[in-house]
Parts: sequence; structure tokens; C-alpha cells
Amino acid sequence: MIKFGLVGYGAIGEVRAQALKGTPEAKLSLIIDPVQERRKQAKAAHSIRVSSALQDLLDDDAIDAVIVSTPPNLHRVHCEAALMAGKHVLCEKPLAPTPQDCRSIVETALKCGRVLATGFNYRFYPGIVLARQWIEQGRIGQVTHVKSVAGHPGGPEFTHQWVHDPRIVGGGALMDNGIHLADLTLLFLGPVETSCGFTSHQTWQFQGTEDNGFVLMQTSDGRIGSLHATWTAWKGYHWQVEIHGTRGSIQVSYPPMMAALYDRPLGAAKRGKRHLELFPVFQVFERLRSYRWTVVQSFIAEQTDFISRLKSERGSGATGLDGLRAVELAMSAYAHEHAPVEKFTAQTHVPILN
Ligand SMILES: NC(=O)c1ccc[n+]([C@@H]2O[C@H](COP(=O)([O-])OP(=O)(O)OC[C@H]3O[C@@H](n4cnc5c(N)ncnc54)[C@H](O)[C@@H]3O)[C@@H](O)[C@H]2O)c1
Repeated sequence: MIKFGLVGYGAIGEVRAQALKGTPEAKLSLIIDPVQERRKQAKAAHSIRVSSALQDLLDDDAIDAVIVSTPPNLHRVHCEAALMAGKHVLCEKPLAPTPQDCRSIVETALKCGRVLATGFNYRFYPGIVLARQWIEQGRIGQVTHVKSVAGHPGGPEFTHQWVHDPRIVGGGALMDNGIHLADLTLLFLGPVETSCGFTSHQTWQFQGTEDNGFVLMQTSDGRIGSLHATWTAWKGYHWQVEIHGTRGSIQVSYPPMMAALYDRPLGAAKRGKRHLELFPVFQVFERLRSYRWTVVQSFIAEQTDFISRLKSERGSGATGLDGLRAVELAMSAYAHEHAPVEKFTAQTHVPILN
């Protein structure tokens, strides 16, 4: 049994705690939040110890792992304190608001020999899991390019105030909803050598944050990708990733959960045959219990994967390094020029992160 502490019992911390109940071999033992009302709600929902003092978690030798679910500008201090106290860490996205902070967290995990994971739960949506299987089976040949988009109608009332503060999040749409798709794009394309992009803030005009951002990227062997993150998606919350290969293509989108595979007849420049997956269980449960059901399922799968990594098994979830790479990719749009993605030194990429 892995004993967990949770730092930050806000909107997502609450869902994390709920998902820990359904995660095999996980037990939530302590919740930290400075807001009394949140601690009261946590205690009522989980009947466990709550505290306002992070030190209580750090001093508790029985706690093996920590989920950090505070606003992003606090991730570094919370992750590093937990890592230095010998805990493994699963940190919500984005890993931190700057590449420097992300690097520091990754280096601390390496120094302390602890597992660090980034909360990119879209990896565990069944459409993405299926796409990875199709690619492993060689159904689309070699991946040639990836196109991603993430959108919601991100006005002031859509979410917390702090989401629009670049000092807290590090940027706008690209660092918020876009960061999940930055991760998925890199997952399917592989590490990129160069990236560049542009941002605009024509609609909401939040100080210093883009409501639309585009990134173009290229790998060292010439494969290319694009990412568009938007807070002006009037059709509502949605995301989509297209993975194109030499023999076919895959399109995964949500909501509704959908994955389509088009495999081209060998050697022919003809339209491919479509195989469509609609994940009926997800459609039904989302109707009955809302999208939150899907989020909980993805958190359970992500937390289960994290626990398997604590046992030195190879996981499919995002590492700390993946968290850093996604932030570097998103931020390359802020340079407004063809700036190379800053490289993380090879010797710091050690197997414990995988
Ligand atoms: N995985 C996803 O799809 C997803 C979706 C939304 C948000 N997030 C991420 O989850 C994290 C939390 O977002 P949220 O929506 O729950 O925010 P929130 O504002 O609802 O919750 C943050 C919580 O942290 C607490 N907190 C503040 N300072 C603290 C401190 N010093 N110590 C301990 N707790 C402290 C606050 O009291 C609050 O309860 C962010 O990193 C966000 O980007 C992830």
C-alpha cells in the first residue's frame, strides 16, 4: 500500500482525492490546505487528517508519495520540499510557470532519487491509449506529422482568476489547456529540435496572457507538428490530436470521446478505410454523471501508473522531464521568433524518470 499526502484541496485536489479512493494500492492519509473551509470539506469527505502546515506532511515518514495540486507558481516549492523529504511526487500541470523552475524540480528529483511525474491525465483517456496501441501495431507506419488543438471559451467567468495571471501560470492558453496538448504532440512526435510560434490577445485582453497561441515544431529527422491553444473556442471545451503516418492516420478527439483510424491500402494513394471507436461506456457514464466521471477515471489510471513506476516498472504517464519539455514547447511561442527549444542536458535524463 502506498500512502499519499495531498497538497492543495481545491477543484482538482478534490477530484484527485476522490480518484485515490478508487486507485488500487493507494491510501490517502493527509491533506494540506491553508484555507479552513477547504480543510473542513476535506475532513468531511474523507475522514482523514488535515492540516494547514506542509511541515506535518514532510515530517510524516509513513507518507511515501505526494500529489501537488496547488496553483502552478507554488509547484516548485511544494514539489522540492516533498522530494527533499524523501517523497515521490505527482505534480499537476503545468509542472511550473517557467522552464527554470521545471528544471530545478527535475534536478531535485534526480538528486533525491525520487520519482517525479507530471499530471498529464489526457494520456489516460481511452482514445489516446488506443492511438498508442494502433501506432505500436504499425497501423499508420512511421509518424510523419502531428496536429493538435485545445480550446475552451476561456472568459473571466470560465475558471479561477489566477488562471489569467501569467505570474502564476507562466502564460495564457498555451500554458493552461494547451499544455496537455503540448504533451500529447510531443508524445506522438518525439522530442523536437526547433519550435517557434505566435500569440494573440484580441478578445479577452488579460494582462500579459494570450487567448490564442500557435506553435510549429520540427524534429531532428524532419517530422513536423503544430499546436493551437485557444481561449476563444465558441463551440465549447474540446481538444483533438491528429497523428499522420506513412500508411495512415489517427484522429482522437474529446468530447465526445472518439478515435478514428484511417489505414491506407498498401502502396496506393487512395482514401484509407475508417475504423471508428466511440467508447460507449464513457458516453453513457458522462451522460449519467457528467464529464467529471471521465476525469476521475483518467486520474485513477494515471495514479495507478505512477504507483507502478514506484516499483521500478516502466510507466506510460508523463515524467518530470515530459513536464519540462511541454513548458519549453509552449513557451517557444512567447519568443516570437524562430528560437530553438532549449535543450535539457542528456546526462540528467536518467531511467528513474521513465
Ligand atoms: N489535470 C487537469 O486537467 C487540470 C485541470 C485544472 C487544473 N489543473 C491544475 O491543478 C492545479 C490546481 O488547480 P485547481 O483548479 O484545483 O485550483 P484551485 O484554486 O481550485 O485549488 C488550489 C488549492 O490550493 C490551495 N493552496 C493555496 N496555497 C497553498 C499552500 N501554500 N499550501 C497548500 N495548499 C495551498 C488553495 O487553498 C486551493 O484549495 C493547478 O496546477 C492547475 O493548473 C489540472
